[in-house]
Amino acid sequence: QVESPYQVILLDTVKTLLRKRSKFSHKGTFGHALLVGGSYGKMGAITMSAHAALRAGVGLLTVQVPKTGYNILQTAVPEAMVLTDDHDLHLSQFPDELNKYQCIGIGPGLGQAEDSRLALESLFRQKLPPLVLDADALNLLASDRLLRQQLPPDTILTPHPKEFERLTGPAIDDFHRLQLLQSFCAEHACYVILKGAHTCIGTPSGEFYFNTTGNPGMATGGTGDVLTGILTSLRAQGCPALETCFLGVYLHGLAGDIAAEAEGETSLIASDLYKYLGAAFQRLS
Ligand code: APR
Ligand code: MG
Repeated sequence: QVESPYQVILLDTVKTLLRKRSKFSHKGTFGHALLVGGSYGKMGAITMSAHAALRAGVGLLTVQVPKTGYNILQTAVPEAMVLTDDHDLHLSQFPDELNKYQCIGIGPGLGQAEDSRLALESLFRQKLPPLVLDADALNLLASDRLLRQQLPPDTILTPHPKEFERLTGPAIDDFHRLQLLQSFCAEHACYVILKGAHTCIGTPSGEFYFNTTGNPGMATGGTGDVLTGILTSLRAQGCPALETCFLGVYLHGLAGDIAAEAEGETSLIASDLYKYLGAAFQRLS
């Protein structure tokens, strides 16, 4: 019997991935995550990723934003430490000491400035902790073939269908899209979370895993930025790449389902996802 490469992510599987906090744990036990993003007029995206990373349990969180975002971040997310870029309005360089972070999440609200593309180029030449790439980090990757070739293995990418097709070229139909997903993950040894009503995780070894949580109330601006924060947080806590993808998409959708019960699908907004993330964790334990 041939095993199907298609599987679904179910509650029982995800429950086994959640680790209980030991009585003697301290903030160092739960990792230090770095989130990089935000630009003039798009600070909300990285702010929501930051809230979500904290609610997903990371021990310490640093956020790097352009100068314009400093007051916004410090005010909106007092739990996070903030580093500012040399540039006022967008990313132009990454911080020096990257080995103190256990995961770096890049992209929400980033913008697509040439400076930012160059910063990614020099980032990829370094020895790095695990990466999560989203939004404009993916668009920059799509615009630069050499940059794509330098993508560090085991990176998690979280495109929506349009971002995905910018990376791979157009899909003729849903089947073809899965073929493109499979070959992209194999070629770059990465994990791709192809987001949508049926979010699908592609792995370097060619499997597909479909998420079973979430609802149309989540079709609202910023919900993807929340997922980036959750994934960066879990990965920084030492969760391996595939388990991070499973737990991240399942919890994100479950928080959406709990939010829809409480607020209704129509009124659900992205910040509700991290508001109800704690309740989602509780349903898994
Ligand atoms: N059912 C279940 N889940 C859904 C549904 C649905 N009908 N619609 C959307 N979602 C979920 C997706 O699975 C995904 O996790 O909501 C999230 C949407 O993520 P994005 O498409 O990245 O949306 P958003 O966060 O608004 O993106 C912000 O960044 O990616 C760029 O171009 C994008 O400008 C936008 C910005
Ligand atoms: Mg998005």
